Amino acid sequence: MEREIILSEQQIHDICKDIACKLDTRFEADGVKTPIVIGVLKGSVNFMMDLIREMKTEVMTDYIQVSSYSGTASTGAVILKKDLSLDITGKSIVIVEDVIDTGLTMQYLTGYLKEHHNPKEIIIVSLFDKLYLRKTDLHVDYTGKMLTENKFLVGYGLDYNEISRNVPYVYVAQSEDIKHWDELLKGIK
Ligand code: IMP
Ligand code: MG
Repeated sequence: MEREIILSEQQIHDICKDIACKLDTRFEADGVKTPIVIGVLKGSVNFMMDLIREMKTEVMTDYIQVSSYSGTASTGAVILKKDLSLDITGKSIVIVEDVIDTGLTMQYLTGYLKEHHNPKEIIIVSLFDKLYLRKTDLHVDYTGKMLTENKFLVGYGLDYNEISRNVPYVYVAQSEDIKHWDELLKGIK
């Protein structure tokens, strides 16, 4: 079965270069030294690494992890699983996400960081934006690709129950893929 590729390796590379260049230009214009780039674990790791590799600005890196209660995802119940290890007080920070859909996870994160860590500014970068699913008025500063159809994507950090993050491009998970992974997962248990 041929895979429906949403972003090829080349397209990912081009997106990383483009956003990295925009961030460099912005930091240079604003005189920002050592901004802190924060990856939202685990989905953004691949994207964040490729993005910062293209940046000329000297950045610092950190990670944060949240999880949504899947049963109550629509209520926006998000919990913090791993906090930052760096002090970001008064610093410019860039939060890197894989996908933003309802925006509830990112809204929680920005609210939490402002309240508990007091950064100077928060810049939001996301590889994908499912804007049509938005339930918040969240502003995303830099987006790799806008999506207009509700498809479940995997690869390049995006997963189905932790599977497929290592694929170097992003593609649409078909029902046959899901069935296959469910069987694999049953075997692991
Ligand atoms: P939300 O913006 O709070 O609704 O949640 C966004 C999160 O949902 C992302 O960080 C992903 O972890 C997950 N997600 C949304 N769409 C997809 C997808 O197509 N594939 C894999 N994960 C997804
Ligand atoms: Mg995520």
